[in-house]
Amino acid sequence: MRVAISKSHTEPLAVIELPSRPLRDDELRVKVAAIGVNPVDWKMREGGPLHFAYTFLGPGKPFVPGIDFAGEVIEAGKNGGLAVGTRVVGGTDFSRKQHGSYASEVIVKRDQVAVVPDAVSLEDAACLPVPAVTAWMAMREHQKIASGDKVLVLGAAGGVGLSAMQIAKMLGAQAVGVCSSRNVSLVEGEGAIAIDYTRGDALEAARAHGPYQVILQLVGSDVYPLAKCRALLTPTGTVEMVVSQPGDYLSIAFLPSVRTLLGAPNQKRLEPLVEAMAKGQLKARIEARFSLEDAEKAHEKSRSGKVVGKLLIVP
Ligand SMILES: NC(=O)c1ccc[n+]([C@@H]2O[C@H](COP(=O)([O-])OP(=O)(O)OC[C@H]3O[C@@H](n4cnc5c(N)ncnc54)[C@H](OP(=O)(O)O)[C@@H]3O)[C@@H](O)[C@H]2O)c1
Repeated sequence: MRVAISKSHTEPLAVIELPSRPLRDDELRVKVAAIGVNPVDWKMREGGPLHFAYTFLGPGKPFVPGIDFAGEVIEAGKNGGLAVGTRVVGGTDFSRKQHGSYASEVIVKRDQVAVVPDAVSLEDAACLPVPAVTAWMAMREHQKIASGDKVLVLGAAGGVGLSAMQIAKMLGAQAVGVCSSRNVSLVEGEGAIAIDYTRGDALEAARAHGPYQVILQLVGSDVYPLAKCRALLTPTGTVEMVVSQPGDYLSIAFLPSVRTLLGAPNQKRLEPLVEAMAKGQLKARIEARFSLEDAEKAHEKSRSGKVVGKLLIVP
């Protein structure tokens, strides 16, 4: 199988052939049709806690980055749980000694994938795992967002932000999305109230539309300070620190209104999301597609911090 590997963050990703290993009884081999690119894919190359976790828990070298994928089951162990030919979406898990998803094939287990309904393309499905699951966990696991609630999305135009606004709407909540001028109409098109952060203090502007049951922090508390975010919450609301910085750790540890989360795609979380996509409640917005050989270009673009929606790698 072909995989893109990272030898170090100073060298570009390189495509190599890696021998496929035999399947265990409880595994599935999936031919990958599309890979969703997430900022964590390049952040993990540069160090940080997930890089070290990968080094100690992961499958060893070579380091194949990536989590999200969609594709077709091409081989199933006898307890694999799905038939050959089934279309699936999911996320790889290095703590199960699995390589990442920047590959022509991945080996995963049944509880890591959801079946993709006929109405959903594999490219659209590949946009879901980390972004939509992260937003889902904040709004449905940490909180039970329902009709009438308000959700503030700091970083509305990216992969997580767009998913979050769509999920909020699907749950009957009113989303307020903070974005730059160029993305105001996109955010409004999702049924959200847009706040243009280039026109002044976005948190001050957000006050008029609150209080919020959930605030999704997708940018950083250096830009949107935590104390100012907390002042916009309902009494039971939470700031969900999808992006957290060292200065936030004490607040996360001691304040019930400040929570961190690690978006972890699995079958249970992906099933309602892929069904929502089949109903048209969640829509993919794909900004650009790259070949596996051009995976480094996808990382360069993602690093710019200006991606609207998703980048895909089509191996
Ligand atoms: N903890 C977890 O499990 C987890 C899971 C997923 C993602 N993350 C992290 O969450 C962050 C967002 O992820 P993503 O996939 O959505 O990233 P992304 O797709 O790369 O987000 C890019 C978007 O960020 C917006 N943005 C940049 N600066 C902004 C600002 N000052 N205010 C508001 N929006 C701003 C940009 O829109 P404008 O052009 O309109 O500014 C751009 O469209 C990343 O740092 C990622 O690593 C963490």
